[in-house]
Amino acid sequence: PHEKVELKERIKRLLKEKEAVLVAHYYVDADLQDLAEETGGCVSDSLEMARFGRDHPAKTLVVAGVRFMGETAKILSPEKTILMPDLDATCSLDLGCPADEFAAFCDQHPDRTVVVYANTSAAVKARADWMVTSSIGLDIVEHLHAQGKKILWAPDKHLGSYIQKKTGADMLLWQGSCIVHDEFKGIELDLLKAEYPDAKVLVHPESPAAVVAQADVVGSTTQIINAAQTMDAKRFIVATDNGILHKMKIAAPGKEFIEAPTAGNSATCKSCAHCPWMAMNGLRNLAEVLESGRNEVFVDPAIGKQAVRAIDRMLDFAA
Ligand code: 13P
Ligand code: SF4
Repeated sequence: PHEKVELKERIKRLLKEKEAVLVAHYYVDADLQDLAEETGGCVSDSLEMARFGRDHPAKTLVVAGVRFMGETAKILSPEKTILMPDLDATCSLDLGCPADEFAAFCDQHPDRTVVVYANTSAAVKARADWMVTSSIGLDIVEHLHAQGKKILWAPDKHLGSYIQKKTGADMLLWQGSCIVHDEFKGIELDLLKAEYPDAKVLVHPESPAAVVAQADVVGSTTQIINAAQTMDAKRFIVATDNGILHKMKIAAPGKEFIEAPTAGNSATCKSCAHCPWMAMNGLRNLAEVLESGRNEVFVDPAIGKQAVRAIDRMLDFAA
């Protein structure tokens, strides 16, 4: 605990010294989330992280999250220095959608509007017409569908089919998934609901259809935290990375949160619902990168220039 206090103080001092601001996701370590809030940074979902990073005047952004979040920050603010505690913090959706294969897929379907999820590489975004996050994907596809557009969607098949069902849009889906949300199971959730009939179910749309079907609220991390806060219920079952519980408990004191069951909730897998890449962010490596300036995120400027169009479209739409 003493080391923790010292590290936190060191980080606060370094943030000031380097004119840097900390932008964190709800799935990272609770200490990092608290630090972001205490120091005038932000902790939020991926859409808000992107907007906050773009609008903040700091010269350096430290992104505590995964690689695509750092890249998005760099694409939106090429003049800023973007640091990450660990550059190897990636995402199974990003890994499952290599840019060359994705470009070939797009080439085969030139009649479709290309919509990609934020959880992708800069090169994939460069090939897209639109980038969306979980908080706004549904609205954007609805808007495109109303214009009669046919859509090519990548990479998350669960989020894609959820949006497809909701909007009725013609969507061709890339078959990627999130290894964390993929573990939530419909049958086990059904049993848990029977045990707690008063509980409301909050679900991130990267979860499988059998889980989404049982949700009272489906939304981005920020949206389901807001739901926990505002809904008239005392108990919630939460199907997303358990890092979110830290903020949920603060936002909705006195309410009870139960983690949704995963297939591997067993002796061998106690924490299936936690992203191994988000977990790579810690106080120690955060302090180190601030001190040394190491782990800077770079995006090929030509790719960044292409990719920014898809991101700007989303941010303009959201404004
Ligand atoms: P949000 O945009 O909802 O925070 O989701 C990001 C993510 O990676 C979820 O797994
Ligand atoms: Fe990617 Fe899933 Fe981790 Fe989110 S939780 S960063 S979607 S692997």
